[in-house]
Amino acid sequence: MGKLVVLNHPLIQHKLTMIRDKNTGTKAFRELVDEVATLMAFEITRDLPLEETEVETPIAKARAYRLSGKKLGIVPVLRAGLGMVDGMLNLIPAAKVGHVGLFRDPKTLKPVEYYFKMPTDIAERDLIIVDPMLATGGTAVETIKLLKEHGASSIKLMCLIGAPEGVRAVQEAHPDIDIYLAALDEKLNENSYIVPGLGDAGDRLFGTK
Ligand code: URA
Repeated sequence: MGKLVVLNHPLIQHKLTMIRDKNTGTKAFRELVDEVATLMAFEITRDLPLEETEVETPIAKARAYRLSGKKLGIVPVLRAGLGMVDGMLNLIPAAKVGHVGLFRDPKTLKPVEYYFKMPTDIAERDLIIVDPMLATGGTAVETIKLLKEHGASSIKLMCLIGAPEGVRAVQEAHPDIDIYLAALDEKLNENSYIVPGLGDAGDRLFGTK
């Protein structure tokens, strides 16, 4: 079974509280999501491999380390996932960005792909899917399936807030995937919103409500 990691760094928790607050406006919400994405990227990249190198300081030669060329890919799920991309690129500017768009078929209620554009070499990249809310898990399960079908072998899922239902759905469908959250909330309500959550992440990011 993949890991479920709740990133309880104090700065992440403090900023998440402001993100949840219904009185936080669009500008502050967007800035805070950006900052939390940077902090989460810091934690999620902890296990990147290093190699030894040598560097000349003004004083002497030093044995040192650098990243050993592992390539990363950030995969925002449209549209709310877009709010987490720049924050991650602050720390990992060489990462490539692939986009996934899914809508829910009104008849079958199943997610259907309407946009899928990835870097050509996703099979060699460590991919991090970003979506602020892991609610029912339907979108995450389908996104992971699509990436695997296109050859991806290293995938992590990073969300701000998860519901137990969504975590379970991803773990059942894709037991090889590690999930990183800033908070694991209580449940979903009858409209599949996370309780207590933060409301509609897309609307709050883009001011569409
Ligand atoms: N999507 C959101 O934006 N919010 C939720 O609570 C659940 C899904």
